[in-house]
Amino acid sequence: MKINPKTITLKNGKEIVLRSPLASDAENMLNHLRIAYSESYKNLNRSSEYWNHVSVEDEAKVLMDFENAPNKFMLCAFFNERIIGGLGIVGQQAEFVRRTGALGMSIQNEFSNSGLGTSMLQLALESAKLFGFHRIELTVRTYNHPAIKLYEKVGFQKIGLLKDAAFIDENFVDEYSYQIILS
Ligand SMILES: CC(C)(COP(=O)(O)OP(=O)(O)OC[C@H]1O[C@@H](n2cnc3c(N)ncnc32)[C@H](O)[C@@H]1OP(=O)(O)O)[C@@H](O)C(=O)NCCC(=O)NCCS
Repeated sequence: MKINPKTITLKNGKEIVLRSPLASDAENMLNHLRIAYSESYKNLNRSSEYWNHVSVEDEAKVLMDFENAPNKFMLCAFFNERIIGGLGIVGQQAEFVRRTGALGMSIQNEFSNSGLGTSMLQLALESAKLFGFHRIELTVRTYNHPAIKLYEKVGFQKIGLLKDAAFIDENFVDEYSYQIILS
């Protein structure tokens, strides 16, 4: 699944291109993931070190799979050709739950708080609906206030609390579970 390029202007005047990454964006993508995960690993699911062990070739295969698979897609934000944000929606495989997708996203600190997350999420949800998804779910750490604000702003509803859902820096941390129905 693939989203074609769309140019947006952030609150700070910067022009950003939103589009699905291609296999040829693999190195660019890995650079983004290393930066975003080193800045924000406490809000994500692994340390940035992980991305140092992923080869450009393997990342290219992942991106090609996202482009060609029937129920998942990725959306990236490009500033002057550099990837500075990424969002993925991955659908479940089993027949009866294929129209539910799990969402994750990361934006580099330099570009956060300027409306980019809102634009990426709105485009991703519009696209997900066109692609046939019906329900999107996500989890977010209870201390991640900007993300919670963003998800609730675009219409996600809190389902409940996931106690001790992640183990980070020797501590268990709680997450909220959220969902949105794409009606
Ligand atoms: C969370 C994230 C996606 C948000 O992206 P963003 O581009 O900053 O989002 P936006 O600027 O569109 O919106 C953020 C909102 O949070 C608000 N906000 C910022 N800091 C806040 C805080 N400490 N408490 C409450 N709200 C806050 C902003 O005012 C804005 O709301 P508004 O549009 O009504 O003014 C981005 O910061 C990010 O990728 N962080 C690191 C990784 C991460 O946390 N991923 C999500 C994992 S679940």
